[in-house]
Amino acid sequence: MPVIDNSCIVIFGASGDLTHRMLIPALYHLYIDQKLPTSFAILGVSRSVYNDQTFRNKLITNMKSDKNIDNDLLNKFCEHLFYQAIDTSDVNDYKLLKERLALINADLQLNNNTLFYLATPPNLYSVIPQHLAAVGLNKETDGWKRLVVEKPFGCDLESAISLDSSLYRHFNEQQIYRIDHYLGKETVQNMLVLRFANSIFEPLWNSKYIDYIEVTGAEALGVEQRGGYYDGSGAMRDMLQNHLLQVIAMVAMEPPAVINAKSMRDEVVKVLQCLKPLSQSDLENNLVLGQYIQSHVRGKCLPAYREEKGVPHNSRTETYVGLKLFINNWRWDGVPFYLRTGKRLPTRVTEVVIHFKKTPHPVFSAAAPENKLIIRIQPDEGILLGFGLKQPGSGFETKEVAMDFHYSELQETELLTAYERLLLDLMKGDATLFARSDAVRACWDFVQPILDYKKQSFPLYGYASGTWGPIEAEKLLNQDKHQWRSPCKNLTDTDYCEL
Ligand code: BG6
Repeated sequence: MPVIDNSCIVIFGASGDLTHRMLIPALYHLYIDQKLPTSFAILGVSRSVYNDQTFRNKLITNMKSDKNIDNDLLNKFCEHLFYQAIDTSDVNDYKLLKERLALINADLQLNNNTLFYLATPPNLYSVIPQHLAAVGLNKETDGWKRLVVEKPFGCDLESAISLDSSLYRHFNEQQIYRIDHYLGKETVQNMLVLRFANSIFEPLWNSKYIDYIEVTGAEALGVEQRGGYYDGSGAMRDMLQNHLLQVIAMVAMEPPAVINAKSMRDEVVKVLQCLKPLSQSDLENNLVLGQYIQSHVRGKCLPAYREEKGVPHNSRTETYVGLKLFINNWRWDGVPFYLRTGKRLPTRVTEVVIHFKKTPHPVFSAAAPENKLIIRIQPDEGILLGFGLKQPGSGFETKEVAMDFHYSELQETELLTAYERLLLDLMKGDATLFARSDAVRACWDFVQPILDYKKQSFPLYGYASGTWGPIEAEKLLNQDKHQWRSPCKNLTDTDYCEL
């Protein structure tokens, strides 16, 4: 197992939401689980005027809203936190940063190992690396230097290519880590173990036995305070281009020879490059875009997307996408993959459902039961296998039953959150769960026709909050004689859905 070197994590965008909601809590949990190196520092960087103490105080106040926090440990953790105010867009300020890093490195003996985490608005993704390079902070002559880029990595194919080339001027691919937090989820990684560590699934994992696959990434919340960002992004860029396509890659990739960054990412990119390009007819018939409208859910009036803060009243940004796609290779020939993601759907759930083909010859009079494997990514993380049994009594009636496993049953293990896992890997220099440049491009390549299509006048369907999206999304499956599963909060519940 790679060791974790003493190092400094420099977080650009230290006063922002991602730092406070995700990064600092994840680092705190790693600290109390004693997973961080013996000596480490976290240096917050942004324009806001704080010093070490006021930065620490702000974080302490945020973290204290969590009732399980241990105050003594939190104070000890905060001793590792530092702050440097700079104007990140001004190259002259980077000398200050370099001097501060040199002091911290000398005090804590961090060997100049530095992780630069870009938790800033995307317009700074090419500026910060350029300025770091101007003061030599990209050079690995004295300790490693890694650059972490949050999503969105570009906003279309062209901008992703151009971002890559601006990063490559100063950092090489081995130094660049593109985060897709879905890859940090235990249950997404478990798909690889489920498929490649068991001999019973893999022989069936192909077009001969699989009828179709559903991938759902549903959220009950609306856009909350992020209307301004979201309106320029939409569900396509926010969820489908990255998170859902990465999940598809885990479901559909070939087994890597070994689990390491190269083998894994080689297989991921191969399958993403096999996504069948969307034709004009696919865009017209296999794509459904929707936007939530004002509705009453359990007696509460929820605003329309167009009434959300930061969203223009005439916005045509989609908050729902349903898409049928195919993978052009031997394994998946002709198997439809149905993807859907949306805000303000009935519940928060991410899952993959593998629907197996029916038996070739109907021996029993009743309709053959459905064989399906549900891989629940969140919540109630687990696996459920549905199959048919004999209904007790005379005759041969069949009944659908299920075998299920829930991660919560593994009481002795607490799942690391996605950011905890990814931050640990970053410090170890393990790139296996980070998106490689060619994979990001393959995803943009696939969605680019959709982005182009959206520039034309395309149909955008309204849907009521608390429903599974526009009716047209049902038709997408019904036309193939299939139906979306209605997932509930609990993996095993099938006949009602808790809102
Ligand atoms: C983010 C999107 O990348 O993923 C958000 O920007 C979305 O809009 C979030 O809510 C979903 O992540 P998770 O881990 O809650 O499924």
